[in-house]
Amino acid sequence: MNDPTLHAPEETWWKDAIFYQIYPRSFADSNGDGVGDLGGIREKLGYLELLGVDALWLSPVMRSPMADHGYDVSDPRDIDPLFGDLAVMDALIEEAHVRDIKVTMDLVPNHTSDQHPWFIAALESTPGSPERARYIFRDGKGDGSEPPNNWPSIFGGSAWTRVTDSDGRPEQWYLHIFAPEQPDLNWTNPEVAEDLAKTLRFWLDRGVDGFRIDVAHGMAKPAELHDMNLELNTLMKNDDDDPRFNNEGVHEIHRGIRKVMDEYPNRVTIGEIWVQDNERFGDYLRPDELHLGFNFRLAEADFDAATIRDAVTNSLAAVARVDGTPTWTLSNHDIEREVTRYGGGIRGTGRARAMLLLELALPGTVFVYNGSELGLPNAVLPEDVLQDPVWERSGHAERGRDGCRVPLPWESPAPPFGFSTSSDTWLPIPPDWAPLTVEEQLEDVDSMLNFYRTAFELRELRPEFSGSGVDWYGSPPGCLAFRRQGGLICALNATDAAIPLPPGELLMSSAPLVDGQLPADAAAWLV
Ligand code: NOJ
Repeated sequence: MNDPTLHAPEETWWKDAIFYQIYPRSFADSNGDGVGDLGGIREKLGYLELLGVDALWLSPVMRSPMADHGYDVSDPRDIDPLFGDLAVMDALIEEAHVRDIKVTMDLVPNHTSDQHPWFIAALESTPGSPERARYIFRDGKGDGSEPPNNWPSIFGGSAWTRVTDSDGRPEQWYLHIFAPEQPDLNWTNPEVAEDLAKTLRFWLDRGVDGFRIDVAHGMAKPAELHDMNLELNTLMKNDDDDPRFNNEGVHEIHRGIRKVMDEYPNRVTIGEIWVQDNERFGDYLRPDELHLGFNFRLAEADFDAATIRDAVTNSLAAVARVDGTPTWTLSNHDIEREVTRYGGGIRGTGRARAMLLLELALPGTVFVYNGSELGLPNAVLPEDVLQDPVWERSGHAERGRDGCRVPLPWESPAPPFGFSTSSDTWLPIPPDWAPLTVEEQLEDVDSMLNFYRTAFELRELRPEFSGSGVDWYGSPPGCLAFRRQGGLICALNATDAAIPLPPGELLMSSAPLVDGQLPADAAAWLV
């Protein structure tokens, strides 16, 4: 029986939850258009319950022209017809709650779509108008034909696009840190915060349990918009000195969001925060700001014991000062899948299993990206199907993130693998994923899927998974081992040879022991 005293109380349920990130386009398609939708998620709630997750994070499902697959929102208080409607969303929330699964949504407050009524009105208005003041419009440099500063867009090209006046003459420029279809909002304008509060309450009133906040480190911009050192420009991971992100004003914005969240019990915010400095990371988690912040250090670490240990120590230190909850993630819709990152094939899969045990052994909140539980690798896609705006914006220099966004394979034997009734899925599913389908893996006791289920269950039920810190053991070079206060020991072997296990009773290992020893590229739990 599950002992409720083992787990965080209901008000802070998120402190030790397992979140499952659904990329809605790619999870399950219920209407046969080749794109996943909310109806598909509803149909798979039984699967999610069987898997044993505590909460869902849905990548954006709000109304959007889909220039960045939903991260360009044209109406934040409606569901995009591609995914369903408000009634389906309500049903999904209700049915998930019946199964004791929470539902959190992606929120995109840094920018809107260029099809948002506010931006359409801004384009139809003149410089200096209240309509323009909701975004970041500036005159160009020199005779106006040069962008206001040298900032690049994260997706490639300039972060500024020039607009024309009603007679078609070139006029001001607007800022878009991402694609031109994603104009940045002006967060110094109180209307912007008021509108976000309305959006928060709209979804919270419908029963949503919280929000993942997109670009949570990006909403505030420096007043002077000075030029930046272009060497600091990177895709996703942002340098701490990059003036486009982590400006001090962002904290006031988070305090405003938290005030609204606090009107509703038991809800959570999780910020997408790219910042290396621990003190600055911790600032976002002060008691009146975000509940949780994504820490990407583990997702960035190679399969190397010292690097992994550093990532863990660092992530724990980042939240310690503010008594925050650590978070762990190995992949998401923006980064290469872990099986591929760890070398691909049997080796990459073995290491991904080991890293799951490591991640689940740690104190805090875990985020699992859909398809990780199937051991999916990144897909190698032909160029003519690529859809990520990064591909076009980089002049075909960067392939972008489509390889980790391919639809999930549910049933064998061939694409579309039960994902859809249409064979024309929005990204093609590799035929060699046949052994990775949910159907195949449920039948196989040793599959990645059953490995995930067992590990989730043990983490849920065993009292040894408790305590807020970790004590490191001495371990051979290339290995690591730590102990939770509750008594769980986790050992990881990143060398090429088997090693003896620390003393204790074996609870689970990511690969069969060899003569009682932990093989290469494997991890074990002991009590
Ligand atoms: C971060 C999201 O995770 C990514 O997918 C998106 O492209 C950018 N923010 C812009 O919204």
